[in-house]
Amino acid sequence: MQKVLVLGASGTVGALLVPALVAAGQRVRAASRHATAFAGAEAVRFDFANPATLGPALDGVDRLYLLMPADNPQVAQFLLPVVAAAAARGVKTVLQSVMGVEHTPQNPYRQVELALQRAQPSAVILRPNWFADNFHGMWAPAVAQGVIALPAGTGASSFIDARDIAACALAALTSTNFDGQAFTLTGPQALNYGSAATLLSQAAGRPIVYRAIDVDSFVAQLQAAGVPQDHGRMLAGLFAAVRAGDTAPVSDAVERMTGRPARTLAQYAADHAGAFR
Ligand SMILES: NC(=O)c1ccc[n+]([C@@H]2O[C@H](COP(=O)([O-])OP(=O)(O)OC[C@H]3O[C@@H](n4cnc5c(N)ncnc54)[C@H](OP(=O)(O)O)[C@@H]3O)[C@@H](O)[C@H]2O)c1
Repeated sequence: MQKVLVLGASGTVGALLVPALVAAGQRVRAASRHATAFAGAEAVRFDFANPATLGPALDGVDRLYLLMPADNPQVAQFLLPVVAAAAARGVKTVLQSVMGVEHTPQNPYRQVELALQRAQPSAVILRPNWFADNFHGMWAPAVAQGVIALPAGTGASSFIDARDIAACALAALTSTNFDGQAFTLTGPQALNYGSAATLLSQAAGRPIVYRAIDVDSFVAQLQAAGVPQDHGRMLAGLFAAVRAGDTAPVSDAVERMTGRPARTLAQYAADHAGAFR
């Protein structure tokens, strides 16, 4: 059996996917800049910004989980060379993309999707919605203060649990059943941020509320926290889709790929309650 290479292995999805692959009896190479170690897997240094690290990471690999680390604007620049190298070596690629990009031809994730489909028609594309895990990840400081202030208006999102993304990735990497297909991955229910905050509050046993703010206030809030203005504007721009209702649709892809329904946000909140107290 050849190996599965997981990029972003110590990140939100990768850190769940690597142990799941190991538990499924797969040989796994876990890649990140710091070569973070995982029990039962081979750790390797890989940096998108250092092309010399790509060949050694791909050597002896027959499947690849490809994702872009969050907060990096160089999506096409970093992902396209990996797509080409994997296709040239016949490495089956499962790409973690973003919900809705199939409707935005100018989006760099869409450009990467199209390049992958051209280079490797059997590739699998996963398009997750907003991660529930952001509440204990990038929104953790706000949750800790009890006020989640975002430019989301009253828009709802079918938040997906990263455990379900990892389960879909495992299914795509360990069978050919999903080859050549793209899947929009969502949770089972769309909730606005006010309702999401209520669920977190119930799990935490303390008040956590949502406050709708405008884009400029959001960017200023991020800047005060040390986030550069252009990155803040990029993040703020993502909420236009939330306000427009584009992140509200619910898909059954998690159940189709894994045989289990997607986890609810209430389940996510209960399972991570310790992070919210
Ligand atoms: N968060 C959401 O709500 C959401 C929703 C839809 C789609 N997405 C998409 O999901 C992706 C992010 O997934 P994720 O949250 O699982 O990833 P993540 O946690 O941001 O990934 C971090 C991982 O990438 C590694 N890494 C960072 N910089 C690197 C570099 N230059 N070269 C190689 N490895 C590097 C990190 O380890 P080292 O630091 O050791 O390198 C770590 O293993 C993005 O494409 C995002 O657009 C996110």
